[in-house]
Amino acid sequence: MLGNPNRQRYIYQQLPFVTMAKIVMVIGSPRKNSNSEIIADKIAEGAKANGYEIVKYKINDLAKARGCQGCGACKKAGVCAQNDDIKPMLEDIKASAGVILATPEYFGQPTAQFRIAQDRMFSFVDGTFTPFFPAGKKCAVVVTCGTGFDGAKAMADQIEGVMAGFFKFQPLGKVVVKDAMAPGCVAENKGVMDEALAIGKKF
Ligand SMILES: Cc1cc2nc3c(=O)[nH]c(=O)nc-3n(C[C@H](O)[C@H](O)[C@H](O)COP(=O)(O)O)c2cc1C
Repeated sequence: MLGNPNRQRYIYQQLPFVTMAKIVMVIGSPRKNSNSEIIADKIAEGAKANGYEIVKYKINDLAKARGCQGCGACKKAGVCAQNDDIKPMLEDIKASAGVILATPEYFGQPTAQFRIAQDRMFSFVDGTFTPFFPAGKKCAVVVTCGTGFDGAKAMADQIEGVMAGFFKFQPLGKVVVKDAMAPGCVAENKGVMDEALAIGKKF
């Protein structure tokens, strides 16, 4: 009986809490045809093949996205006090099975857009730095750069370290790519695309 699609639809209608697990993408590049976003999309393709719903936040496209105000309200409330366009991203990550975090290297650092998203994740932990959600969400990290590979690698390690150290995410892998200046050029790099897809399939 369970093989009948109408029966399956009926069962899912009766169980509104049965929803597809989400993977949330946080995209820090402001560019169209962004290399870091293209790699993140390839990771998402792997995750989608494993049955996950993909939700993407391109921070530069959000109308209202403010940095953490350091108010500490989240430590008691368990949610960020700012009701801007970053808030749904935070709530989606809390309810997710994992994240794909992507940013270019700008002057040896993640972009300002990425940092806004990252700082707001401070609301994931209480006053004792205990996350408000169970350990074991998964995370993949992408950093692209021009020539500064060592800096980009260190950035990817730092981003992954925050997710694992503070929020108890399980790292699945990092893609760090240099010579990624021309928009869209990484799409031609089969090695990178294969590496990204393989990480995505670990979700
Ligand atoms: C403001 C700015 C600062 C940058 N700083 C660096 C840098 O410090 N090191 C580096 O290797 N590349 C640097 N780049 C190049 C970008 O990291 C590179 O083009 C990256 O692949 C762009 O990613 P995207 O295609 O996802 O936007 C910089 C680019 C811009 C626009």
